[in-house]
Amino acid sequence: MRISPRMESLKPYLFVEINKKIAEKKAKGEEVISFAIGDPDIPTPENIIEKLCQAAKDPENHHYPETAGLPELRKAIADWYQRRFSVSLDADREVLPLIGAKEGIAHVALCLIDSGDVALVPNPAYPVYVISTELVGGEPYYMPLTEGRNYLPDLDAIPEEVLKRAKVLWLNYPNNPTGAVANLDFFNGVVRFARQHDLAVCHDAPYTEVAFDGYQPVSFLQADGAKDVGIEFHSLSKSYNMTGWRIGMAVGNTDIIGALGSIKSNLDSGIPQAIQYAAIEALGGSQECIARHNAIYQRRRDLILEVLEDIGLKARPAKAGLYVWAKVPKGYTSMEFASDLLQQVGVVVIPGVGYGSNGEGYVRLSLTIPDASLVKGLTRLSAWKDNKDRLKQKK
Ligand SMILES: Cc1ncc(COP(=O)(O)O)c(C=O)c1O
Repeated sequence: MRISPRMESLKPYLFVEINKKIAEKKAKGEEVISFAIGDPDIPTPENIIEKLCQAAKDPENHHYPETAGLPELRKAIADWYQRRFSVSLDADREVLPLIGAKEGIAHVALCLIDSGDVALVPNPAYPVYVISTELVGGEPYYMPLTEGRNYLPDLDAIPEEVLKRAKVLWLNYPNNPTGAVANLDFFNGVVRFARQHDLAVCHDAPYTEVAFDGYQPVSFLQADGAKDVGIEFHSLSKSYNMTGWRIGMAVGNTDIIGALGSIKSNLDSGIPQAIQYAAIEALGGSQECIARHNAIYQRRRDLILEVLEDIGLKARPAKAGLYVWAKVPKGYTSMEFASDLLQQVGVVVIPGVGYGSNGEGYVRLSLTIPDASLVKGLTRLSAWKDNKDRLKQKK
């Protein structure tokens, strides 16, 4: 038996490693406070669960679903895009339900990238853009996201010889891990750039509903001509606390949506129908949960920022998304700082370098931590600083 050499380049997924470290600490009987994964701690809203339970009891929903999803779900997605972003979508040709955005992000590489092709990928970024590119024999070209440019890539800095081989441009706003946002001017420029260089734009947008201080994130599809050049990935994971149900969508360009639908119909058998009905309720039912959840996240963001400032870590207040992106103290790499926090005070943060080399010097803290743990975690962060100060005085 031989495992494909392809597997040699596949490193363990970021969170698998982090969860292993947490499990080791817990096995020693230590309590760990985790600011790691962006997995909402607040339950899925009651109306959605109610619909899921009802639908699960209906034998009609016990069969293989269609990969393309229920027509009612595709319509609910199109209606939601119309209401939320004033974007019109053809529910049959421009909408494809997914088993979570991650699944679509992984599979779309099969539709767009051949061996030796280049995908333009932000750095730092959600790891799956690079992983899916490499698994199909493509090469990532990293576009640095830096604080100085508000974490927007400098498209004009991409060398011409790279652009000749580039097929895909990956973007993600509101951004994980930096918390940055993009406006319509930026997206209009992206459409022009994609036309000029014959690129498919894949915009990953699962955080558009998690926003603060009255800010309303935009969709890439609001840009003029966006549907001619690309698609947007979205998800119910973060908007409606549905990470565990695994449901998302790709919307936009008919050719890419058609190709992705074809790949999926050959590789998977769709989303369990009861979950599709729950998603219809989420998208079409009361949206009151969004503001309620955002108020909780905003309060947590502000509490975290206050403590980080007290202990000398600089971070900008994110306008959207589930994360605080903070500079590590002088003298530490992001990995050293994250390890020190875990060893000294049992607090888990994600080292920025896990999202790419440009994440060096930063750590990411998630806002999806229950209030009681949050308070404990922040107290421990303050204690870490007090210990360091005491040690310094002793020297
Ligand atoms: C930028 C980004 N895209 C996609 C996903 C995955 O979303 P889903 O749960 O729909 O697979 C995440 C999850 O953390 C994410 O941060």
